[in-house]
Amino acid sequence: LASIRVDVSAVDPGTQITVLWQGKPVFIRNRTEEEIAEARSVDVSALPDADANNENLGEVPATDENRALSEDGTWLVQMGVCTHLGCVPLGDAGDFGGWFCPCHGSHYDTSGRIRKGPAPRNLPVPVAAFVDETTIQLG
Ligand code: FES
Repeated sequence: LASIRVDVSAVDPGTQITVLWQGKPVFIRNRTEEEIAEARSVDVSALPDADANNENLGEVPATDENRALSEDGTWLVQMGVCTHLGCVPLGDAGDFGGWFCPCHGSHYDTSGRIRKGPAPRNLPVPVAAFVDETTIQLG
């Protein structure tokens, strides 16, 4: 599968960019301290989808640590594809301060985990890695 490299140096805290990869949107977000703290305070056992849904890790619990790309939690990379029927969720939206899918009302938290609505899975985290301080490779 073709990989691409994305320069994230201009992505400020509290904002995200959407890039197209393999014909699908990928959200790359630079999270604020508050967003990270919120994501890490969640009781994982209460989540609808207990799996991190992170291709880099295999089957592991849906902790924020298992979803974020960077250890400090700053960077979150995930497919911008609702796990219900594939609409593109909106950022900075929904009851949990993360993403909201307007098609049928799925609410994702600041870690991209499904919290409310018909979507069955957390937003998928694709194969991704930092190749230098400001460049993320997808695939
Ligand atoms: Fe997102 Fe149905 S496609 S809630």
